[in-house]
Parts: sequence; C-alpha cells; structure tokens
Amino acid sequence: MTTTTSTPGIPAQAGAPAPPSLADTAPKLLSLIAGYVGHRTVAMGLRAGLLRQLADRPGGSPDDLADALGLDPVYVAVWCRAAFGAGVLERTGGGYRLADHMATLLLDDGSPAFVGGVFGVCEAPEMFGRFEASLASGERMWWEDTSPDWIAAVAGTGTPFYTRLVPGGLERVPGLAERLTAGCTVVDTACGSGVGAIRLATTYPRCAVVGVDGDAHSIDRARDRVAAAGVDDRVTLVHSALEDMAVEDVALDEPAALVVNNISMHECRDIDRVTENVRAVLEPGGWFVISDFPFPDTDEGLRSVPGRIMSGIQFFEAQIDDQLLPRAAYDDLLGRHGFTDLGTAQLTPMHALTWGRRT
Ligand SMILES: C[S@@+](CC[C@H](N)C(=O)[O-])C[C@H]1O[C@@H](n2cnc3c(N)ncnc32)[C@H](O)[C@@H]1O
Repeated sequence: MTTTTSTPGIPAQAGAPAPPSLADTAPKLLSLIAGYVGHRTVAMGLRAGLLRQLADRPGGSPDDLADALGLDPVYVAVWCRAAFGAGVLERTGGGYRLADHMATLLLDDGSPAFVGGVFGVCEAPEMFGRFEASLASGERMWWEDTSPDWIAAVAGTGTPFYTRLVPGGLERVPGLAERLTAGCTVVDTACGSGVGAIRLATTYPRCAVVGVDGDAHSIDRARDRVAAAGVDDRVTLVHSALEDMAVEDVALDEPAALVVNNISMHECRDIDRVTENVRAVLEPGGWFVISDFPFPDTDEGLRSVPGRIMSGIQFFEAQIDDQLLPRAAYDDLLGRHGFTDLGTAQLTPMHALTWGRRT
C-alpha cells in the first residue's frame, strides 16, 4: 500500500497518489463489522445445533428448525436471515439449506478443510476477553489456567492440521512414508488431547506412538481418547515439558524414526533446548517434522485473510508468552542444531511443514 503524508495547507507532492477518501475508507470498517456478525452467527449456529439440523434436514423452515430444536421461532428466523446474509445458508422455497460445502467446512471434523473449530476458539474468553482484561497488567498464563472448554476447542482447531499432516503431509517428506509403513517409533511432542497420537497409531499400525505434553489436563483427555479409540496398547502418554523430555522419560525401547510437533513448536519456552531433546530421541537419519501456522513476515501477508486470522491467534499466544513464528524461523532452528536434508511444504495458506533429518 502506498502512503502519503500531507500537512494542512501544504499541497501533497506532485505525482503522489491522492489519499483515499472517507467514502473509500468506511467500507473497510463496515466489512469488519459484517465479518463479526457472520462470525457470531456461525458460532451460535454451531453451538445451538442449527447448522447440524439443516445439514441433516435441508429445506426446513425456521418454524421446523425451532420445533426440532426446542428454540424460539422468531429468534430462529432472525438467525436464518443473518446466516443467509453471511452466505452460509441458501433459500429453498419457504426454508433454508446449507450453502455448498458448508457442511464439510463447518461440521465435518474429519475433513482436511474443516474450519468449524476455529469459531469456538475465537469466541472463548481465553482469546480476546482475558487479553483485554489484562491489557494494562500484561499478566501471563499457562495451559493449566485455561478451561476444559478451551482445551476442547483447541483440539477442534488442531484436528484438521493432523488430518492434513497424517498421512498426506508426511508423504511429502522424502523417504518417510516407507519407514512408517515398515514400522518404527513415532513421538508426537505437545500432543495435546491425543488426536494426533491416535491418527498416527491408526494410520501406521506397525508403529509405536509416544505422546508427550506439558499440560496434565490435556494428557488426561488424551488417555481417555486413546482408550476409547482402542489403541492404548501402542500409544504411550507422558506428562512432561518438552524442555525436560529425556530419552528415559519418553520410555522408548528404540530411538524414534520420527518426531512430529503440531501447532505447538512456537509455544515452547526454549525451542533450542526442545530441538536438542528431539535430536536426542531420534535415531541417526530420523526426521523431525514441524507442522505449524506460518506467520506472515511481510506487511502484505499480514493484511491477507490468513494473516489476519493468524493475528487473532496471537492474542492467545501473547498471554502464554509467545507468538506464532514465520516458517523460515524453523529452517534456522533445524540448521543450527545440525539437521540436514531440510524441506518444507505449504499445505494451506495457514499450514506449513518444515522438516529435517538428524545426522
Ligand atoms: C495448540 S495446543 C496443540 C495440541 C495438539 N498438538 C493439537 O494440535 O491439537 C499446544 C499444546 O502444546 C503444549 N505445550 C506447549 N508448550 C509446551 C512445552 N514446552 N512442553 C510440553 N508441552 C507444551 C500445551 O500443553 C498444549 O497441549
């Protein structure tokens, strides 16, 4: 964007573009307000089951929807109009249906395109409410200070990252897929509620999987999930900060062939120590794959839609005393710890992989 400065009474430099008019500028703010309305509408529709009901019974009228869900028909009609305005619903005679692909994007948590989880994250008090309340004090927190609802919402956001990573993303890493199919030990560092550990164990039935996380509540949730998925014979869960992760704590019978980290590397207090610990648990030639948000490193990127969403995530990250990192920071990290065969893949505008092999 070109900017010009002008002082009242002194004409702008000849040839400089005219500054935008008030009428040009107002729509920027109005589109922010419209986005907020759309966001609240979608989040409400997810929580109240309105979107799920319309996916299961397309064409329902607001009265049908209200009846089925035990909601007020006038309020449901208001919601339907707003969701139509946001482009989330289409009209069908007297009723509504989900617009094309909305069921996948908003409701199918098994899809690599799922974004439904992000709405819950953005509305949670941990994201903006607590940030604003702490704006003067700058008081920080850690994962144990967050609510179970927050941990569940984060798992919903992390799930499509794992879906893209396993197996598609890992197949982009030369030589890795064969090793995983043959069977080996895999460590998911900062495994959270266990979604990735289960995905790894079910996708690679010959592999043993270790999940490590520093948050006790997340490890408890992971234990429940792993047991429910019936893979507890091949998944070991360890409660430990990654900065303290030692080979013996991770209880490996053999060095790991693969260590992954999904949307968490930027959170580590000491990423150099963590990378050293990852090196120590890897076999020679073993891979470290970092799957993370690539925070924009240009002004243009920051003003893109993905950049603006990632800027939103930074409100939470700041409160736990970190920030998302530009992807290239991981090239530097792996390089300074002697990893070789570095590679990268952009899976979506908000998801990139960086990998390297232990020498
Ligand atoms: C954004 S969540 C992601 C969890 C999971 N990987 C996923 O994608 O759903 C970040 C997780 O990293 C964990 N974490 C962050 N820093 C950590 C550290 N230094 N040591 C261990 N766990 C850490 C947190 O406890 C939390 O469970």
